[in-house]
Amino acid sequence: MAQKDSQDKKFATRIISEKYTKKDIHGAISLPIYRNAAFEFPDSESIAAAFQYKEEIASHTYTRITNPSVENLERKIKAASGADNVMMVASGMAAISNTFFTLAYAGSNIVTSPHLFGNTFSFFKFTLAAFGVEVRFVNTDNLEEIAAAIDENTCAFFCELITNPHLEVADLPEISKILRLRNIPMIVDTTIVPWCGFDARKAGVDIEVVSTTKYVSGGATSIGGAILDYGTFNWAHSKRLANVTRTETMSQFSFKLKREIARNIGAAMDPDTAYQQALGMETLQLRFEKMSETAYQLALFLSEQDKIVKVGYTKLESSQYKQISDKLFTGNPGAMLTFSLGSREACFKFMDRLQIIRRATNLFDNKTLIIHPESTIYGSFSPEIKKIMGIEDNLMRLSVGLEDIDDLQSDILQALSQ
Ligand SMILES: Cc1ncc(COP(=O)(O)O)c(C=O)c1O
Repeated sequence: MAQKDSQDKKFATRIISEKYTKKDIHGAISLPIYRNAAFEFPDSESIAAAFQYKEEIASHTYTRITNPSVENLERKIKAASGADNVMMVASGMAAISNTFFTLAYAGSNIVTSPHLFGNTFSFFKFTLAAFGVEVRFVNTDNLEEIAAAIDENTCAFFCELITNPHLEVADLPEISKILRLRNIPMIVDTTIVPWCGFDARKAGVDIEVVSTTKYVSGGATSIGGAILDYGTFNWAHSKRLANVTRTETMSQFSFKLKREIARNIGAAMDPDTAYQQALGMETLQLRFEKMSETAYQLALFLSEQDKIVKVGYTKLESSQYKQISDKLFTGNPGAMLTFSLGSREACFKFMDRLQIIRRATNLFDNKTLIIHPESTIYGSFSPEIKKIMGIEDNLMRLSVGLEDIDDLQSDILQALSQ
C-alpha cells in the first residue's frame, strides 16, 4: 500500500509529511492556494518546453490542465494509497465519467451491478447509451454470471466497494481472478471506505474512483473526485487504449486521461477545494476511525430496538457479507448504515422528530445525516427502474458523524418512542 520511498512511514505520517516539491518563498507550512488561471514564463523557449512536458519538474501552464494546489492534494492521495497516478477532478461523478470516457467506445459494454449510486446508474444506463455503450447488469455475488456477461467488447468491470444503500460487498479478489484471465480491468468506486481501511491494490483493483466530497473533504467542505491508477493493468489488451503512448510514469490509461480526456471535458478541481481537501486528508484517518466505530456501535444499538425491522452494516453477524467484509477491511467498514421501520410513513415521522441528526443528503460529514433514499436520491426514477435498482421504501440511510454516541442514541430513542 505504501509508496516505495516512504514504506517505513505509517498512514497519517505519510500524508502529513508529504511535502510539495517546490518551496514556498515564505516557507508557509501549508501550501498557499494558487487561485490563478494561467502561469507566466520567462521566455518563449520555456513556455514551449512546458507545453511539450520537457522540463524535469513539469511546469503548470493553465489551471484546467494542472495547478500546484491540486497537485499537492494528488501527492497526498498518492502517499495515502500507493497508487502510481492520481488525478483530481471536480466531483465524484466527474471521476466516474472521465474514467469511462477514457475506457469505453461505441460498441463496447460495461459489466456492473444494478445496485449503484443513482447518478452512476443514470450515467451508465442513459448517458453512455447515447454514445453506443451498453451496460450489462449482473449479480456481483454470482461469479459465473459475471464471467458469462464478459465478451470481447467488454471494456471494464465496475462496482461500488459497499453498495449504497443495499450494503453488498463484492468479493473483489475472486472477481479479479476472473478478470485477469479475460484481460478486463477492474474499476471500483471506493468512496465508502478510504485508504486507511481498504487496500485497493491488494484486492486487485486496477482503477479506483472516489468522491472526495465525502471523507476526504474534511467535513463536507467541498465537492471533489479522484481517479487512481494502480498501474496493474496491461492496457495492450484494451481495444481503446492499446495504441496510446505509455511513458515511464504514466500507463496508457493515465496518459489518455490526463493528456486528452480530462482537459477536453474540463471538469477540473478548483484550487480552493484542493486546499480544503489537502487539509482534510491530514485528519482523514482520525475522523474515519471515530465515525466508523460510532457507526458500528450504533448498528448494534439499533439492532436491539423492537420497532426497527432490519439493520444493515456489513460487520454485523446478521449481514451475509460479514465474512468478505472482514477480509477486505481493516477495522470497521465505514460510517454508513441503514435501518428499516414498518413503512415509508413511519420513516418520515421518525425522521421529522429527530433533533440532533440532520435530514440531509451526502455522506461522511462531521454531522450525522439521515435520508430516505427511495423518495430522494432515487425519487426521479420510474417504479420499474427502482425495482431493478432494488430500492425499498421503508429504508433509511444514516451517515454517522463525530457527535458523542450517547447523544445520537438519545435522539434516536426519543424519535422512536413518540
Ligand atoms: C458511492 C458514490 N459514488 C459517487 C458519488 C458522487 O459523488 P459527487 O457527489 O462528489 O459527485 C456519490 C455521491 O453521493 C456516492 O455516494
